[in-house]
Amino acid sequence: MLAIIGGSGLTTLSNLDVSHREVVRTPYGEPSGAIVFGEICGHPTMFLPRHGYGHTIAPHMVNYRANLWALHHHGATGVISVASVGGIRGDLQPGDIVLPHQILDYTWGRKSTFFEGPGVPVRHVDFTEPYDAALRERIRGAAEALAVPVKVGAVYAATQGPRLETAAEINRFERDGADVVGMTGMPEAVLARELDVPYAAINVIANHAAGRGDSAQGIHFESLEVVLQGAMGQVRSIIEGLVGCAIPGAK
Ligand code: HPA
Repeated sequence: MLAIIGGSGLTTLSNLDVSHREVVRTPYGEPSGAIVFGEICGHPTMFLPRHGYGHTIAPHMVNYRANLWALHHHGATGVISVASVGGIRGDLQPGDIVLPHQILDYTWGRKSTFFEGPGVPVRHVDFTEPYDAALRERIRGAAEALAVPVKVGAVYAATQGPRLETAAEINRFERDGADVVGMTGMPEAVLARELDVPYAAINVIANHAAGRGDSAQGIHFESLEVVLQGAMGQVRSIIEGLVGCAIPGAK
């Protein structure tokens, strides 16, 4: 069953025909909220809002281990992370949808492995390719079938938040090779890998990153909401196509 983790702008999945909700207890504490189980056009799907239902959990406070453990425990065969990001690369505009292929991790102090603690053997997972290429390709294919433009391939810089970055930090990330910046991509991706669950991300550019484009003098929070709402509609359609819903007008 496919699992969707929704971020800012996607706290509910309106196309999910909900059957039940379940509060899951995990060895790592509480997930961000109850997992919502249901179907999207007949295809079983589960959903979890990363920041909680009231959007009260800051990026550095999200219990990523509990979230991933709970989804895996309930049979997630793939996890799609939906998250808003700031655009660093010059061609990226607010509203664009990006499928990242690499990660730079600048977060700190987050619980980022299941393989620690008394009696737990250390395991070093391969993370050369942090996202699952086949799942990314399914997302790309669904978007293409719907004629929703997506940009495939971006280096995602994961920052600690909850504050936004300084212009100098964004310049540094760009020198490091980053194309987009967000606060939640890690350790989510590596925890999925530790559980051997294919994981891919759909990033929506909410704004130009600090010091770039119309964020040159500061980030305009007013426009973020509008941008995200428009793009998240497209993300919902991509998810429908991906799980196998018939595409209106397609033969
Ligand atoms: N920086 C970090 N995270 C973000 C941003 C940003 O500019 N926009 C949306 N999430």
